[in-house]
Amino acid sequence: MKTIIEPFKIKSVEPIYFTTKEQRIELLKEAHYNPFLIKAKDVIIDLLTDSGTSAMSSNQWAGIMQGDESYAGSPSFFRFEKVIQDITGMPIVIPTHQGRAAEKILFSILGGKGKYFVSNTLFDTTRANIEFSGAEGVDLLCEEGKYPTISAPFKGNMDVRALENFIVEKGAANIPLCIITVTNNSGGGQPVSMQNIKDVKKVCNDNKIPLFIDACRFAENSYFIKIREEGYADKEVSEIARELFSLADGCTMSAKKDAFANIGGFLAMHDEKLALNCRNLLVITEGFPTYGGLAGRDLEAIAIGLKEVMEENYLHYRIRSIEYLTNKLIAAGVPVMQPAGGHAVYLDAKQFLSHIPVDQYPGQALVGALYISGGIRGVEIGSLMFGKYDDAHKLIPAQMELVRLAIPRRVYTQSHIDYVSEVIIEVFNNRKEIKGLVITEESQMLRHFTAKLKPAE
Ligand code: F0G
Repeated sequence: MKTIIEPFKIKSVEPIYFTTKEQRIELLKEAHYNPFLIKAKDVIIDLLTDSGTSAMSSNQWAGIMQGDESYAGSPSFFRFEKVIQDITGMPIVIPTHQGRAAEKILFSILGGKGKYFVSNTLFDTTRANIEFSGAEGVDLLCEEGKYPTISAPFKGNMDVRALENFIVEKGAANIPLCIITVTNNSGGGQPVSMQNIKDVKKVCNDNKIPLFIDACRFAENSYFIKIREEGYADKEVSEIARELFSLADGCTMSAKKDAFANIGGFLAMHDEKLALNCRNLLVITEGFPTYGGLAGRDLEAIAIGLKEVMEENYLHYRIRSIEYLTNKLIAAGVPVMQPAGGHAVYLDAKQFLSHIPVDQYPGQALVGALYISGGIRGVEIGSLMFGKYDDAHKLIPAQMELVRLAIPRRVYTQSHIDYVSEVIIEVFNNRKEIKGLVITEESQMLRHFTAKLKPAE
């Protein structure tokens, strides 16, 4: 088989600034061992997130010039609306400035004390918005999804039996919504199968619980269905996406992922009454319903990006490039989440740094080591992000201690990725030198963004 090449040419470039290892040791200390506090210019390869970091296409940039900035009724909105209606089959489209703004609106309306939102796995902002409303978020991930080294085709699936049991335990009336995140970001970028969504939908229908999709990475998930699920090999990705959305009552999406946009998001749904409430909140928080929190040019970039993302050449390259890095690491014995996910490589920090106890945040320690060694910035998805405290202020750890290296779309070439693998393997070979971390300062919500840490004694 020949090399699968990047299906694009580069028209415009940005410089990468290089630092030395000695400089990075100081920079990390100044950033209190938190990658969110490192300046981007001090990063060589930035894998902090795939969100808002995509390279836009020449078509998207051309679309930006066509953005119409009318306050009400902009033609850019109607193009945006039409593309989303075509993809999702949902008639109502509400633009927001990013995904969490859509979540904030939805959960402000549906949330509240005594309510439960069930999911395969809620992303951190989704969970935070649910909890902020007073409700509780409940992850019911399938068993195989909980073990990084078990290989299975759809590790993002929801545990349908657990869902049924949970509904019996809490009562359907207390569950305003079930949310399936595709792909399952916090669970390793693993896909959800069409069959699983159908099964979940059936349980939801039987109990009159609406089903929403957190659709950030719908195209990547649809492509996984095409290549892994029986009966989908000959279908177009757009057809698969349409089928996926047809099972849902609504969706939230961050256009910063599978729309190649640098900002944006939306809510889409069928329910007119819910939409009316959403739009009322939208007007006081985001803006008028034909622009939400966005400029007309952003609406154009998103509309174009949403179509580009379903091109098969792109998805083939995209999924393969993540697998390429994953396989290189597996070959070197590095513990990674298997199989490869859709947008990121997830290192299993618990195994990678088995000498560091979970209350010394092995994931965060690994993030620091990758930065020092090669200027690579990743993010911990483990007990710093999801850990809680019990009444005695003892850490209740997260299920997994992962480090996510998210690959921005269309940004890095194969040689960048080769460099990343070389750095990780070097860190792995010297892993015994890495020390744990303790928190010196933290906020109550989403603490990983701003927490300050220092090396453990
Ligand atoms: N849902 C999922 C599954 C996400 O991955 C994100 C963002 C959001 C919702 C919120 O969207 O950022 O536009 O407000 N994930 C980013 C990440 C931040 O790095 O994975 P947003």
